[in-house]
Amino acid sequence: MAVDFRLAPSAEDGRQILHMDRICFPVDEPPSIAGAEWVIGWDGEMPAAYCAWKTVEHDGVPVGFHYRGGVLPEYRGHGLQRQMLRLREARMREQGLTVAVTYTDADGAASMRSLIAEGYRPYVPTATTTLSGLGRLGRVGFVHWRKSLQMPPAKP
Ligand SMILES: CC(C)(COP(=O)(O)OP(=O)(O)OC[C@H]1O[C@@H](n2cnc3c(N)ncnc32)[C@H](O)[C@@H]1OP(=O)(O)O)[C@@H](O)C(=O)NCCC(=O)NCCS
Repeated sequence: MAVDFRLAPSAEDGRQILHMDRICFPVDEPPSIAGAEWVIGWDGEMPAAYCAWKTVEHDGVPVGFHYRGGVLPEYRGHGLQRQMLRLREARMREQGLTVAVTYTDADGAASMRSLIAEGYRPYVPTATTTLSGLGRLGRVGFVHWRKSLQMPPAKP
């Protein structure tokens, strides 16, 4: 599927992202647009997918956090999430980051499959490495994932 991924810094991009996010995460709080680098995947004039990443500190070390991402239902099943993981990893590497992290819902099977295929493995979050917030530490419901960016890219 030919989807063109482009950085999405404008206010109009932000509105487009929030619209897609309401479709992909209908019961979640909207994400914070500020403070993350956003990308939209375009099918011609039609937005098909979006994602974001930001730098956070884990145990005092800066790491790249896959902050948010979604593929609109009609575009699922074409590997766009894996593409978005790779393009964000490339941006993280450009910034000199050596580790990528993220978290999923415990039943987020599609995301987990993509993450595992791209070389991510689960880790147990601590107070200084949690991504889902201190209040959620020790509760079931989320799985935290980490990957060394120093390993070679996964095969498609
Ligand atoms: C998660 C999401 C981004 C994946 O989109 P995608 O790139 O089109 O992913 P696919 O539909 O190709 O699914 C990825 C993998 O999961 C599998 N999969 C898809 N739906 C599944 C399900 N319900 N149960 C189990 N596996 C599933 C696919 O077969 C594929 O596996 P494979 O590569 O081994 O064949 C998309 O479903 C989405 O936007 N969901 C809502 C928002 C969300 O959950 N975002 C991620 C938050 S971490």
